[in-house]
Amino acid sequence: MEQISKGLEDVNLKWTKLTSIDGEKGILKYSGYKVEDIIKSGALVEEIQYLFLYGELPNKKQLFDFQKKIQEGYSLPDYVINAITNLPNNSDSVALQMNAFAALAATVPYKWDKQTDRDVAAKVVGNMSAITAAVYRHILGLQPLRPESGGSYAESFLKAAFGKDPSQEQVDAMNTALILYMDHEVPASTTAGLVVVSTLADIYSGIVGSLAALKGPLHGGAAEAAIAQFVQIGDETKVDDWFKQNIITGKSRLMGFGHRVYKTYDPRAKIFKSIAVNLIRNNPEAEKMFKIASRVEELGIANMGSKGIYPNTDFFSGIVYMSLGFPLKNNIYTALFALSRVTGWIAHFIEYVEEQHRLIRPRAVYTGPADRSFVPIDQR
Ligand code: CMC
Repeated sequence: MEQISKGLEDVNLKWTKLTSIDGEKGILKYSGYKVEDIIKSGALVEEIQYLFLYGELPNKKQLFDFQKKIQEGYSLPDYVINAITNLPNNSDSVALQMNAFAALAATVPYKWDKQTDRDVAAKVVGNMSAITAAVYRHILGLQPLRPESGGSYAESFLKAAFGKDPSQEQVDAMNTALILYMDHEVPASTTAGLVVVSTLADIYSGIVGSLAALKGPLHGGAAEAAIAQFVQIGDETKVDDWFKQNIITGKSRLMGFGHRVYKTYDPRAKIFKSIAVNLIRNNPEAEKMFKIASRVEELGIANMGSKGIYPNTDFFSGIVYMSLGFPLKNNIYTALFALSRVTGWIAHFIEYVEEQHRLIRPRAVYTGPADRSFVPIDQR
């Protein structure tokens, strides 16, 4: 009997120099650098974006030039912004990002080319900032603002989203979130985009494919679904009952828990938790969510830890976004995840198309009826 790998578990899709994960020990490295060390160093997210695209950390001159290329992507044709604002304010934020990238796919010619792929990639990273800021303002019923050149990537994005200067604490937290979500090897969204670009479709279409896969609640959608469940619980004192009725009974999955690769605490979740602890001070709603989450976390680990089911990166990230001032609305937390992950997607696309390209075309094992005589419709 032929075998299939359900959910492509343990299938190695490509070689990579980008990200490595030790799921048993809970270690995540970007090109050999432990993610905790990167965060401790206070590096700008642009340094890590550069690392993903060029394979090494930039010096000051390289960083400056790279930032300039990103900033070129801040200005977008009106029709791309209209692809967002023409849809109703209650639209899903990730689908709005998809619409904007589909508009670019429809109009910007693209051919994979080693000489130019990275320049385009930097510009796309800039496009994503402008698109996400516009999406955020649109779902709040506000006119989009373009990110300004000059500030760091995190700072320019926050300013374009909120329409005012962010505090240094907000910029630092956003910078950390952007680094933490940047890449994670070949999860569903990266794989979806790789399938698209393996046909040699353009970079923008690859991003549309990745966004579509990220949106679901088992993947990036969990960033919003995790905090939505804390809102549903409503109060710290109600957690134990909720957990018994929903998780112990198997009625619902605990969102923000469990991972295909990690069988221990996700290192990103630890960092998100540590920044949430400081940020919630200024936001009573986020503080309330944090208290609920902390009790859910205790019960989750006590009940599922022995099966290797622990908090993943999405468990506390929503609380960080809420503390930063983003309301829980229209899947915007997942769109913020995508703002970061776009660099990882593109870096994998480039690695695959430039170095190991082959059309991705798996097989399915047929289990339907054996040969049958076709009966015309008027005889059925
Ligand atoms: N809550 C309750 N049970 C769970 C959970 C969970 N969060 N995760 C896994 N399980 C159980 C599942 O019910 C199954 O049990 P049984 O064998 O008794 O049927 C077993 O664990 C294996 O589940 P699976 O779905 O086959 O495992 P997987 O490797 O596909 O799981 C997962 C990965 C992320 C889909 C799953 O853990 C899950 O649904 N988690 C909740 C959604 C979530 O937080 N997603 C974010 C993932 S990480 C970051 C990201 O990608 O955005």
